[in-house]
Amino acid sequence: MTRSAAHFVTETSLQAVAGQRVRRDLWDAEAEAAMGHIELARWADAVVVAPATAHVIARLAAGLADDLLTTVCLATTAPLFLAPAMNRQMWEHRTVQRNLASLKDAGAVILGPGEGDQACGETGPGRMLEPAEIVAVLAGHLAQGPKPMDGLNVLLTAGPTREPIDPVRYISNHSSGKQGFALARAARDAGANVTLVSGPVGIETPAGIRRIDVTTAREMYAAVEAELPETDIFIGVAAVADYRPEEMQDQKIKKPGDSSDMWIGLRENPDILARAAEVCSCAIGFAAETHDTLRHARDKLARKGCAAIVLNDVSDEDIGFDSDRNAVTFIEPSGETVFPIDSKETVAEKLIDAIALLFRRRNNTTRGDLTRQA
Ligand code: PMT
Repeated sequence: MTRSAAHFVTETSLQAVAGQRVRRDLWDAEAEAAMGHIELARWADAVVVAPATAHVIARLAAGLADDLLTTVCLATTAPLFLAPAMNRQMWEHRTVQRNLASLKDAGAVILGPGEGDQACGETGPGRMLEPAEIVAVLAGHLAQGPKPMDGLNVLLTAGPTREPIDPVRYISNHSSGKQGFALARAARDAGANVTLVSGPVGIETPAGIRRIDVTTAREMYAAVEAELPETDIFIGVAAVADYRPEEMQDQKIKKPGDSSDMWIGLRENPDILARAAEVCSCAIGFAAETHDTLRHARDKLARKGCAAIVLNDVSDEDIGFDSDRNAVTFIEPSGETVFPIDSKETVAEKLIDAIALLFRRRNNTTRGDLTRQA
């Protein structure tokens, strides 16, 4: 704990929840009799500063060692993780960004920050990541041995698209983005460099993932097309609208006076997955089906030319669209694997393992090869 931390939380409460002794003072006579700060620095597998204020970031960037925290950070050879938390204007200040760049140069990993409501009443970047996110990124960094997607570039789509009818109406669907975001996190934890092209959803960007926001299917197609040349694995989780209104009206359409019926002409949207399968040798699609599920999914696998398709039987309302749980069947030309009902996170982890295996089979590589290539 730094001196400032003690203004927010007491040593006693932190000790109670951590179940560990809290160290605050560089000049703790008892601990320092055995060079306690050096012992702490050697003992740590990782050092995490959370929250990392603009002040502590500046002190670390300057190499100061004027309290226990900064001294341990200088004395350790363990990886240093900083989870910044500050007002959005402070975050955007050139000095703070310069300090962060110099810490990154020295090997520090910056976690976040997130965006949203801030304690000062403003909204924007500068919120500390949720503790669970910090733990997830750490777990990924500290996992031993080569990971299944080490160094691979993975491109995902997630969420719905919206196809405007007029300035106030659109055609869309119930996709929440939960399954696509869970897959993006699982790919990141498996060692991949992840880019996520997302339709309109209310989910924060997971740490360490590059996100491109789009609204319509055509915007999603353009964003994916631009990323494809650098992509090793494409995973199309988005529920893309197959059709869009043939024209978007500039003004709100008024109800016709003489008749209660109205007709909207629809045009077919470009097929993102089919295009990805032309360029990328490991393109994976999803198929949300309500009946004859296996037959329709197998048909999509052949029609779109992808390496595998993930069948999502959405006839059961407890899974699939906008639910926290899912159950899927991973279909390859050679056979199927069923992943039974579980949280979307667990389903995502299993799918990422299956996709990594498929990629290695198609490219004749082993995990070690991937790590060496990376
Ligand atoms: O977002 P959640 O609430 O978590 O829900 C997850 C999900 C149910 C949306 C997801 O698991 C899922 O099944 N996504 C695919 C939904 C779908 O509508 O599939 P489809 O059968 O219309 O399309 C088949 C595949 O082609 C999909 O990979 C889709 O991304 C892709 N596609 C479709 C049309 C189009 N123009 N371009 C495409 O790339």
